[in-house]
Amino acid sequence: MAAQPRAAQAGTVAYRGSVLHFLDDPARSARAYEYHEDGVLLVRDGKVLAVGPAAELLRSHRPDRVVDHGGRLILPGFIDTHVHYPQTQMIGSFGEELLKWLDTYTFPTEGQFKDPAHAARVARTFVDELLRNGTTTALVFGTVHPQSVDALFSQARSHNLRLVAGKVMMDRNAPDYLLDTAESSYAESKALIQKWHGQGRLLYAVTPRFAPTSTPAQLQAAGRLLQEYPDVYMHTHVSENRGEVAWVKSLFPDASGYLDVYNRFGLSRKRSVYAHGVHLQDQEFASLAASGAAIAFCPTSNLFLGSGLFDLQKAEQHQVAVGLGTDVGGGTSFSLLRTMGEAYKVTQLHKAFTDTPEARRPLTPLKSYYLATLGGARALGLEDRIGSFRAGNEADFIVLDPNATPLMRFRMERAKTLEDRLFVLQTLGDDRNVEATYVMGRRWSAPESRQQHRQAQVHPH
Ligand code: GUN
Ligand code: ZN
Repeated sequence: MAAQPRAAQAGTVAYRGSVLHFLDDPARSARAYEYHEDGVLLVRDGKVLAVGPAAELLRSHRPDRVVDHGGRLILPGFIDTHVHYPQTQMIGSFGEELLKWLDTYTFPTEGQFKDPAHAARVARTFVDELLRNGTTTALVFGTVHPQSVDALFSQARSHNLRLVAGKVMMDRNAPDYLLDTAESSYAESKALIQKWHGQGRLLYAVTPRFAPTSTPAQLQAAGRLLQEYPDVYMHTHVSENRGEVAWVKSLFPDASGYLDVYNRFGLSRKRSVYAHGVHLQDQEFASLAASGAAIAFCPTSNLFLGSGLFDLQKAEQHQVAVGLGTDVGGGTSFSLLRTMGEAYKVTQLHKAFTDTPEARRPLTPLKSYYLATLGGARALGLEDRIGSFRAGNEADFIVLDPNATPLMRFRMERAKTLEDRLFVLQTLGDDRNVEATYVMGRRWSAPESRQQHRQAQVHPH
């Protein structure tokens, strides 16, 4: 077995295993993916050089090194299109639906991020959890405190992660200790954009929490930032929970619906990502498609908070860009594998709650791996850099062991096709299956193994 150094490899390195990546949406193209059972991914200077059958590429490219991941699946790193890093330590909090959950658990937890040392500690754990789970890019909420974003970006930079994040804008309907103002949120967001957006692989997202916690003046300030900085992101929540939708109607009586509140302030365009969209109307899906905005489908959160069942099939019909989001801490896992597994169950449940079950199709395994990789990259408008092994893309990739647990090994004996294996992996799998995570060609090592490494140096045999 080849050595596994942390440093980026000099020269051309071939990673050998079963290589899978997507070229298009499997729901729309019959040739949406490329798969090489005995394949290699060639990486040079942190970028993808080529992908193809091992025998062919090893001969044609004569790599300087071969790293053998035989029997493993090599995929582009997962992309989490909606997650809250400050909620890492409150994951799995009992019993409430969205609005009460925010008051009971979330706001007090986020209040702690006034302290930069606390923010730094949580950011470290969060980034390690992303990487442990094979997630190499995420679109992330901070808290209202600018220092929360500094802590996260600093941590992401130390791992050279491609990460998109922003400071929450929130000037009403939350505890005083978490409120900013329209003016202060504008100024602080602007300063953070100037400090971080485009620094290395980091990108900024203007982040109003959701319509109920922003005054019209603050949403207007968010729109102004997007006009002044057209290539930043917009990240918020929409139509997650019925009580929330009713509240928005009472707060913005002139708007024609929840999404229209954001549309009126110019917040919907490409690089706008709306989390959830569980209760969107048909015309709202059409509006999203027309504006180029995307939805983050967050199944573990929607089930855990009892929010409802996102209609992926409807989003597909309207050709709305969709990515997968863990939505930790409303969501219950950092694992995109687990998230795919729950997404499948949501599409199954739609059959039970419709008058036309024959018109309902379950989420296929190919489509769910697409959503976790290229689909997420498209939702973020980053498909020319990440999400697939297109030559020239940034070499963020993961190595999955489909046989990581005794049960999985046993079950895999019966999985005959690629689709079978992918499906079992998403149904039973999680971070235990993530054998390696590479960020721009550099292998990440878990803090536990970093610790072991240090101890080994202190106590040589
Ligand atoms: N809506 C407004 N804030 C939040 C949040 O923190 N999590 C979720 N799931 N929904 C929200
Ligand atoms: Zn969320």
